[in-house]
Amino acid sequence: MKNLKLVGPIKQLLTLDGLPLKGALRDSQLEILENAGILIKGGKILEVGKFETLNQKINPDTTQLIELEGDFVALPGFIDCHTHICFSGSRARDFALRNSGVSYLQIAKAGGGIWDTVTQTRETPQSKLAKLTADRANRHLSEGITTIEVKSGYGLSIPEEVKMLGSIISAQQKTKADLIPTCLAAHTLPRDFEGDREAYLEELSTKLLPILKKERLTNRIDAFIEKGAFTAKEIEPYFQKAKSMGFDITVHADQFSRGGLAVAVKFGAKSADHLEVSGRNEIKLLAASDVVAVALPGASLGLGVSFTPARKILDQGGALAIASDWNPGSAPMGDLLAQASILATMQNLSTAEVFAGITFRAAEALGLHDRGKIKTGLLADFSLFPTADYREILYNQGKLKPVQVWKNGLMASRNKTKLYPNP
Ligand code: NIG
Ligand code: FE
Repeated sequence: MKNLKLVGPIKQLLTLDGLPLKGALRDSQLEILENAGILIKGGKILEVGKFETLNQKINPDTTQLIELEGDFVALPGFIDCHTHICFSGSRARDFALRNSGVSYLQIAKAGGGIWDTVTQTRETPQSKLAKLTADRANRHLSEGITTIEVKSGYGLSIPEEVKMLGSIISAQQKTKADLIPTCLAAHTLPRDFEGDREAYLEELSTKLLPILKKERLTNRIDAFIEKGAFTAKEIEPYFQKAKSMGFDITVHADQFSRGGLAVAVKFGAKSADHLEVSGRNEIKLLAASDVVAVALPGASLGLGVSFTPARKILDQGGALAIASDWNPGSAPMGDLLAQASILATMQNLSTAEVFAGITFRAAEALGLHDRGKIKTGLLADFSLFPTADYREILYNQGKLKPVQVWKNGLMASRNKTKLYPNP
């Protein structure tokens, strides 16, 4: 019985090990193992080292050898720590309107925006919603993303939020990527709620949070702190209650106006996401805390607004993750690698900072400590890119896809990559 696997040789294996959680990184800090191998046992990494050494050490009776031909770069499985991939319908109409000059908030006020997706998602049965979520997760998996956070927030009533979280949980049966559900019932005040924003949040506190606990639907609570959504003052009692019940907190903060990041720090949130308009004081506050900043370049590209000040956050000593925010409204592209490489160009990020932002720093934003690096004892989640030089990956701006994606020690996706050959 062969219960071990040895994968290699790998031209360059980037472990992402030995790097700090916070602050700027130089590419020279990257640990790069050449002609490496990964020894896998039961879904976890048993050993990483020189392929030849590992190959001589193994017992062929108990180890399956997966010998690679050609040049490959191995990276830890990517972690997308902020998505909204559980939804129905398209908002192509909103997109065209926005490009013609109508703002995101104006569209929302006129009945488009998030409410449009809520209407379509409510009309979709749970099984169909699970299928849509799994299909998107599998596209992500084939692009090297092995862990995907997925938010609710298009249900906006107790039963519909429960339905969405149920869809995310059942989508897990249809994908090998790990799905991490988050409750975003505080996305916006539903149009059909009879009462004000405070009354809605009170209903979430007293009725929804106990159901989430009892039915184990999620241990993460998110809220959109923004004009037209919820104010910091309105959200605080809701977060207070969620914290006292043991939920982790994450916040959609400082996207169009400031205020959300301070709440994230006050409540010791796992992450504060967006931060496009955060200023000097907010960044200082963030850097002095354990909150991970999550840049969402896909939302900046989708809305035509400025990018999260990632460079400043890192230089001030903050922890920076990068996520896709894949959603039907502000970030329809859903290509994490393309967006991360664009952010690198726009914000002068090193390759090490980008790779950290979509691996172990993103894992920290989700409170996961068993992944994000290629290291003994961690999950055997990694991708192989068809190149001999790790710098080709961001240089190709998302067009260089992994040829193999491994999740929990199994090959979960295999692709043929066709690139126009570079000279
Ligand atoms: O992260 N900012 C609020 N929520 C989402 C967008 C949701 C939508 O437009 O459907 C975001 O960008
Ligand atoms: Fe979002």
